[in-house]
Amino acid sequence: MGDQAKLSVGGAENDYAVLKGSVGPDVIDIRKLYAQTGKFTFDPGFTSTASCESALTYIDGDEGVLLHRGYPIGQLAENSSFMETSYLLLNGELPSKDELTSFENTITRHTMLHEQLATFYRGFRRDAHPMAIMCGVVGALSAFYHDSTDISDPEHRKISSHRLIAKMPTIAAMAYKYSVGQPFVYPDNKLSYTGNFLRMTFGVPAEEYEVIPAVEKAMDRIFILHADHEQNASTSTVRLAGSSGANPFACIAAGIACLWGPAHGGANEAALNMLKEIGTPDRIQHYIDRAKDKNDPFRLMGFGHRVYKNYDPRATVMQSTVREVFDALKVNDPLFETALRLEEIALSDPYFAEKKLFPNVDFYSGIILSAIGFPTTMFTVLFALARTVGWVAQWNEMISDPGQKIGRPRQLYTGPTQRDYVPLDKR
Ligand code: ACO
Repeated sequence: MGDQAKLSVGGAENDYAVLKGSVGPDVIDIRKLYAQTGKFTFDPGFTSTASCESALTYIDGDEGVLLHRGYPIGQLAENSSFMETSYLLLNGELPSKDELTSFENTITRHTMLHEQLATFYRGFRRDAHPMAIMCGVVGALSAFYHDSTDISDPEHRKISSHRLIAKMPTIAAMAYKYSVGQPFVYPDNKLSYTGNFLRMTFGVPAEEYEVIPAVEKAMDRIFILHADHEQNASTSTVRLAGSSGANPFACIAAGIACLWGPAHGGANEAALNMLKEIGTPDRIQHYIDRAKDKNDPFRLMGFGHRVYKNYDPRATVMQSTVREVFDALKVNDPLFETALRLEEIALSDPYFAEKKLFPNVDFYSGIILSAIGFPTTMFTVLFALARTVGWVAQWNEMISDPGQKIGRPRQLYTGPTQRDYVPLDKR
């Protein structure tokens, strides 16, 4: 018998199995707790709760480690491509050369959207936030691809996953094109996944668009850095939505909705807006003081993380990518200097040290994306594009589990106890 945990409630003692993962904290299996004690556990925000078993991604937040299927994010960002990392996340192993070529071909062949979907865009205001468009259009895919939505069939799940990964750049680029009033650009299957996305976003029919290799590489790396991040809020949303057997496209739309929030994917937009507001290094201290003030709701955006209590390993890669993009585009945004200085000042301040607040992936990504030419409203869209692979891989993992159950949290009820209805004229 493995390790056991004892819980004593009202004098009665029960044993609970301690389950071991391949690495990381053990978990106490409390599935029988309610049946045995009539009690629930209480953990709002899931700070101590493992919501599922997963073999995809591992994070050690104290050490600043992020592994996809065992491979460190730094090695993947340095040596892999987004397509290869996607294959790895979906299939568990790095592909052979043939497997990678075949995967890339499959994704490439699914990049076009049903033509009627273009009319959906025209229903939005031109100034609609592109994340609002993403929620709507990705959800609308549910109405178009009926041939692959039998979620009990692994082949159907695979086709839906490929469609989602393949169509997301087209959908995202169209959201951008719509907002700037330019014609939609169709995919060009000669280009790489990322090159194609850049062309669909920044190309115009009147001119030949040339993909700049350094920008393509930086963008691909940003996609790798955002590909998956274990059971974060949007991934848990996708799992919860999917646990009821919902349509996969609708589940990903739910993930996009969750990602939009400023505490999650919206933070890179918020971080860049904050850097612009700070402006010059001489104003940094004022904002640091505000972030430390309990009576001021202001927080340093791009700082802090629920899991990382050390430098986010993705932020390290992001910081070096800023310089590569600046060199390739021959730009030099003074906000980068402000960001570096802000990081330096914050990291030497006891408030941030004590609370273990370090830059996260979003701190530098806005500077790079802005240099490439994306407006801030597109930042979270790019995150959604990349995270789609994580979402579908996690969704697939969940649905493939024969013991999978609908997600149904319980609660600590603190509302009124039963009382009788009072007619309107008696109130
Ligand atoms: N600036 C100033 N203080 C902060 C910050 C910050 N960015 N983040 C946390 N703190 C403080 C809190 O005030 C709190 O202080 P207290 O204990 O004295 O009350 C303490 O640190 C812990 O903060 P919580 O909000 O309880 O930590 P939690 O794990 O719930 O939040 C979160 C994590 C939401 C990311 C938070 O750090 C934050 O709001 N950061 C800014 C937004 C951001 O960058 N989000 C991106 C996350 S990464 C991603 O989604 C890809």
